Amino acid sequence: MSSSKVLMPTEENISPPAPESSAVTSSHESSQEETEKVIKVNDLNFAYDGKKDVLRDISLEIQGGEVTAFIGPSGCGKSTLLRCFNRMNDLIPTASITKGSIEILGTDIYDQYVDEIELRKHVGMVFQKYNPFPKSIYENVAYGLRIQGIKDKATLDQSVEESLIGAGLWEEVKDRLDASGLGLSGGQQQRLCIARTIAVQPKIILMDEPCSALDPISTATVEDLITQLKSKFTIVIVTHNMQQATRVSDKTAFFYLGELIEYDSTTRLFGSPAVKQTEDYISGRFG
Ligand SMILES: Nc1ncnc2c1ncn2[C@@H]1O[C@H](COP(=O)(O)OP(=O)(O)O)[C@@H](O)[C@H]1O
Ligand SMILES: [Mg+2]
Repeated sequence: MSSSKVLMPTEENISPPAPESSAVTSSHESSQEETEKVIKVNDLNFAYDGKKDVLRDISLEIQGGEVTAFIGPSGCGKSTLLRCFNRMNDLIPTASITKGSIEILGTDIYDQYVDEIELRKHVGMVFQKYNPFPKSIYENVAYGLRIQGIKDKATLDQSVEESLIGAGLWEEVKDRLDASGLGLSGGQQQRLCIARTIAVQPKIILMDEPCSALDPISTATVEDLITQLKSKFTIVIVTHNMQQATRVSDKTAFFYLGELIEYDSTTRLFGSPAVKQTEDYISGRFG
């Protein structure tokens, strides 16, 4: 494993392929894994300027095969923490973890021997603003597989179809796979980005407000999709929409001013929060 790869904000980094070999030990078959802690955050602090910590003393364990929602007012550090999970923050030169560690599938992902590109094969990401490549629908989904060097047409065809089915988009696009991904509606483009992400079979999918640029109908479609995808992937979703958190997530983490205030089953956190701040936030008293 090389640790010296320069990390650039390329399409490849954002939606990378899944290899046979891995920087992070992973087995897609293991059913035991479903109940494992796939992400462990240990007493983490993080600063963008190397000085002022925007995340403080975060400890959190995320269960495999579940949907975990990060909620909290704007600026409380939800996206920052999410981007720590696939080392996207490494793209910012002065940014760093100033205390603590993050383990994913048992590997300390900030260990000097972990390759970020390799890590992102296991930890895919879907962004707020859907960002298909200016390529055909087919090529958008096949992208990561081609990067892996897969050339066999039957293999690519099968993976593209399965991924589009998985993303709930196949029926809508199967007759126009050569059309541009950019010609789809917003909700379809976001599902195309989800198809692109799942094509490379990551273990974990990070979603940063994936519905906030979508209309209500597309939002409902993507929410349904999230519920279906959790049988195969561990999903962490940042949302500013508390109803969405209650609809899609098993666990919810409430953040405020860089701290994790409460983390519990979604039912309990919204039904009987243990901390007053959580209660104030979920009842709309601030935020
Ligand atoms: N690239 C950046 N450089 C410097 N500060 C940043 C950067 N991104 C976010 N921040 C700051 O970090 C804090 C947490 O931001 P963020 O993680 O985006 O919060 P959230 O996703 O909860 O809205 C905020 O104070 C924000 O201003
Ligand atoms: Mg954010």
